[in-house]
Amino acid sequence: MSSQSMPPTPVLHTSRLVLRPVRSKDAPVIQRRFPRWDVVKWLNTDIPWPYPPDGAATYVARCREEMARGEKSHWAIVPRKGPADLIGLIHLGPDDGSGKDQRGFWLDPEHQGKGLMTEAANRVTDYAFRELGWPCLWLTNAQENHASRRIKEKQGARLVELLISRCVSGPVEQMVWQLSAQDWMARRPA
Ligand SMILES: CC(C)(COP(=O)(O)OP(=O)(O)OC[C@H]1O[C@@H](n2cnc3c(N)ncnc32)[C@H](O)[C@@H]1OP(=O)(O)O)[C@@H](O)C(=O)NCCC(=O)NCCS
Repeated sequence: MSSQSMPPTPVLHTSRLVLRPVRSKDAPVIQRRFPRWDVVKWLNTDIPWPYPPDGAATYVARCREEMARGEKSHWAIVPRKGPADLIGLIHLGPDDGSGKDQRGFWLDPEHQGKGLMTEAANRVTDYAFRELGWPCLWLTNAQENHASRRIKEKQGARLVELLISRCVSGPVEQMVWQLSAQDWMARRPA
């Protein structure tokens, strides 16, 4: 395993959520929940748009290959109190030196605004720093993506720079943040 390689994706728990590795049979629910303008508009242009009928199946196959190669972890976000299927996804990857976002997430709009992604992102961040021992995370969001930006602010990330980037909705100002393990541990003692 190289120093950048990730171990098998573990199941993680929070008070309201189970985060478990993405499975092949998640594709139909992702195909149903994900392709909405409010979900995709601030995501990067890796997302095919309009979303093709096999978009989720292709994506899930890629997630599983990346997990098998130890390149990334991809979790399905499942509420403990139901529904039984996933309501969003969150992923984490090592710093490849390019300043690329190491953590990405989306949630079905029906389940937004309840602090659920703050909870999922906090657990995954704890995993990166306390279990994987990474020194920092590079994080990004479109400046106008206030919910995603707020999660970084609440976590104590430091704004490093603003870049012009492309997302599904077109060119945007992108905020690049760094969150250090040291700052994280100081704010959130184990
Ligand atoms: C980003 C996203 C995952 C947030 O999920 P969520 O579960 O609704 O987030 P939370 O409920 O944990 O809220 C996060 C914070 O953002 C705030 N927030 C949410 N929408 C906001 C808005 N439009 N303006 C300002 N703040 C906003 C919340 O109030 C909360 O801050 P607070 O705790 O200080 O009140 C969700 O909006 C989403 O799926 N968006 C589409 C995909 C996406 O953009 N992913 C990120 C790409 S970088």
